[in-house]
Amino acid sequence: MKISEITVPNHIPFELLLTADPNPLLVRQYLQQGRCYAAYDHTDLVGVYVLNRNSPQVNEIINIAVQPDYQNQGIGRKLINHAIVESEIQGCREVEIGTGNSSIGQLALYQKCGFRIKAVIKDFFTNNYPEEIIENGIVCRDMIRLSRSL
Ligand SMILES: CC(C)(COP(=O)(O)OP(=O)(O)OC[C@H]1O[C@@H](n2cnc3c(N)ncnc32)[C@H](O)[C@@H]1OP(=O)(O)O)[C@@H](O)C(=O)NCCC(=O)NCCS
Repeated sequence: MKISEITVPNHIPFELLLTADPNPLLVRQYLQQGRCYAAYDHTDLVGVYVLNRNSPQVNEIINIAVQPDYQNQGIGRKLINHAIVESEIQGCREVEIGTGNSSIGQLALYQKCGFRIKAVIKDFFTNNYPEEIIENGIVCRDMIRLSRSL
């Protein structure tokens, strides 16, 4: 599997990014600020993430997503490790990631990748998304912010 930056804007897999964040306005905003990386199985695009510089030494992984048929095969973990190495190369000291309080699998994955909970943005999802989000039988209200030191 190869992971590389997407430099041609119309090669960006917008629909796949929307599986990580259903708000298209926010996804477009993140794409304007950040760099988009994709994982390929031969020529098939199987995963994607956006890496954004939040402050001089802090990157954030935004909108990480793996094609449903390819999930639970370690690709998400490989994308996160790629973001960590890329951030080290860029001279960062920390990588952040945010997810919903209801995203149990994502919270497990990020902690398995060495991220620790840093903050909670209360009511982030109820304030920024018009439709109620329910996952694992839990209403998604708050954003859990996690970070990993490099
Ligand atoms: C989140 C996502 C990117 C993960 O990608 P993936 O390729 O399926 O992830 P991986 O296979 O690398 O790893 C999944 C890990 O999480 C663990 N996991 C998942 N659900 C879990 C749960 N409920 N409890 C404990 N561990 C869980 C798996 O056991 C696995 O850990 P392991 O590597 O130790 O076996 C993928 O599920 C996805 O695209 N989801 C839809 C978009 C999304 O929600 N994006 C994130 C927005 S914050």
